[in-house]
Amino acid sequence: MTNGPKPHPSMVVRDYLAQAREYWDERVKTFQRLACAPTKLREVYKTDPAKALRIFDKEIGRLHEVLFDFIWPLLEDCNSGKVLETGFGTGEFTRDLLKLKVQNRWSFTYAGVDISDEMLKFTREVLMREHLLKFVPRLRLGRASSLTEIRDKSKNGVIWGRIGFWLWNEEWIKALKEVNRIIMPGGWFVVYEPFRDTNPHWERLGKKNTVRYVQDYRDRLPNFTSEEPIEVKFCKESYLIIVFHKNGMG
Ligand SMILES: C[S@@+](CC[C@H](N)C(=O)[O-])C[C@H]1O[C@@H](n2cnc3c(N)ncnc32)[C@H](O)[C@@H]1O
Repeated sequence: MTNGPKPHPSMVVRDYLAQAREYWDERVKTFQRLACAPTKLREVYKTDPAKALRIFDKEIGRLHEVLFDFIWPLLEDCNSGKVLETGFGTGEFTRDLLKLKVQNRWSFTYAGVDISDEMLKFTREVLMREHLLKFVPRLRLGRASSLTEIRDKSKNGVIWGRIGFWLWNEEWIKALKEVNRIIMPGGWFVVYEPFRDTNPHWERLGKKNTVRYVQDYRDRLPNFTSEEPIEVKFCKESYLIIVFHKNGMG
């Protein structure tokens, strides 16, 4: 066990699935829009909620701007294809992407899965308020490592936004197998997350760190080639965006 803050009470549960669900359900109940924000910002929220939200909106706006530079051409090429977002969280990315889809009259179908019931409710409300829910017909509960109802090679693209580093080893490995299975040849996979030397989340739980590097992703995705990662700052943390292309003709 490492020293440091005690595990969140909801973490004292049996298996990863229950752990992850409880953790994320609790986080969105407690922090609402900042549920998926980095810890530093949630600390600011405790003393100055308005300031924390201002920073969050600005930072997430910048992150999405950079992201869309990379995702835009992929989406334009999708035509009437299918895109999946795994771990949509509080739905900020989903919302911004759907706005682009509507503005540009893109015809691809967008679906999202997340392990947390509360995140699902939250994001549904956000999208409903903005009249965007109808553009994401399949927003549902699901586990990154077990997307059984999604057919092999049926997705043009999959997006993992700040979720990979939350997946415990076996979950991460299985989840990447699912990515490999469901993306069609010629399709793409976009990952953005902090690639750190330590992972405070797993340390808090007394688990050995899950340290992942870009090469780990490359090793697990032998049928893909990747572009050079792009570095972007989000709430003073260094994030990398990696775009993988699945080999073969779509
Ligand atoms: C940091 S949030 C990411 C939010 C969003 N993608 C973004 O970039 O703003 C991580 C999300 O991953 C979800 N999650 C964690 N483990 C998961 C799993 N094994 N399968 C599916 N979703 C999971 C959590 O419920 C949470 O909503």
